[in-house]
Amino acid sequence: MKILITGGLGFIGSNFVRYMVEEVGVDAAEITVVDALKYGSNENNLKDLEYKFVKGDICDYDLVAELVKGVDAIVNFAAETHVDRSISNPYAFIESNVIGTYIILEAMRKVNPDAKLVHISTDEVYGDIEKGSFEEEDRLRPSSPYSASKASADMFVLAYVRTYGLDAVITRCTNNYGAYQFPEKLIPKAIIRAKMDKKIPIYGTGKNVRDWIYVKDHCEAINLVLKRGEKGEIYNISSGEEKSNLEVVNKILDIMGKKDLTEFVEDRPGHDIRYSLDSSKIRRLGWKPKHGFKKGIKETIEWYLNNEWWWTPLADEKILHPTPWKLRW
Ligand SMILES: NC(=O)c1ccc[n+]([C@@H]2O[C@H](COP(=O)([O-])OP(=O)(O)OC[C@H]3O[C@@H](n4cnc5c(N)ncnc54)[C@H](O)[C@@H]3O)[C@@H](O)[C@H]2O)c1
Repeated sequence: MKILITGGLGFIGSNFVRYMVEEVGVDAAEITVVDALKYGSNENNLKDLEYKFVKGDICDYDLVAELVKGVDAIVNFAAETHVDRSISNPYAFIESNVIGTYIILEAMRKVNPDAKLVHISTDEVYGDIEKGSFEEEDRLRPSSPYSASKASADMFVLAYVRTYGLDAVITRCTNNYGAYQFPEKLIPKAIIRAKMDKKIPIYGTGKNVRDWIYVKDHCEAINLVLKRGEKGEIYNISSGEEKSNLEVVNKILDIMGKKDLTEFVEDRPGHDIRYSLDSSKIRRLGWKPKHGFKKGIKETIEWYLNNEWWWTPLADEKILHPTPWKLRW
């Protein structure tokens, strides 16, 4: 099976390539990764694997059409992903997330309509929910430019299934954590700042709740959808491990044996209070998470502490900033 993986040098994309090669047994030579090498990407993530790499932007139709030719499947991870950056510079999100997805769909329609697309979306497209959990058919009410761009891309995917008969599926997953996550995101940032004995910024009251999934569990779910997901269907992916940001940071400090380093800072505008997904549909296909938060977070902390070489060049003041949504990117 020849697979094109977009955004394969980012956090989840690189974990997915590694999972497919090391745990599923896919020949790395069957995998092509295309990545624009934007700030969140890192060639070190996959430097030990013999896969094919193409530096390029998914907004480049000619390039994408060439890459889509002859593949059996495309998994689209490529995206701008940081909500804070989307607040100060929304346009980059419209480019990569909306236009980039449209270009992939157009290339499939014109040069390889038999390929299967797994489009990686997010729980954030539903917006927040105070009680209960969203199902796949619930209305979308995105709160940030990031989630609005992801919701738009989902709409294009569904329209191309209906109008042109493309074989595409959408996954919507909750917050991931694990190795190779760029230091601007909550968990690596907290680990790195704690390691440096610096204050750890907590937005608002710290009560915002996210459902945290270990990245390898997400990768396993994506592989299942790649094999068995049905055309035009959406699959929510969640672990059920709902925790407030304050709980997550306190757990990290506790495991690292640090004193209280938390510091409450001005909240992000439009900050969603709670995300929660009902993932019974993918669980009926035979998936369930294998890693609980307690074990997963311990392994993640160990990985960052053992791989300082990986994050040290990335962890500057701007990336570790307490309120990055106020910065100009
Ligand atoms: N991280 C999470 O918790 C989470 C949760 C649910 C869904 N997702 C989705 O999963 C996908 C991957 O997220 P991530 O956390 O790995 O992000 P990331 O920022 O770590 O990686 C994104 C990758 O895409 C590449 N990229 C961006 N724009 C591109 C373009 N125009 N052309 C080619 N490459 C481009 C970047 O260079 C980077 O390597 C995204 O679509 C995101 O919306 C992430």
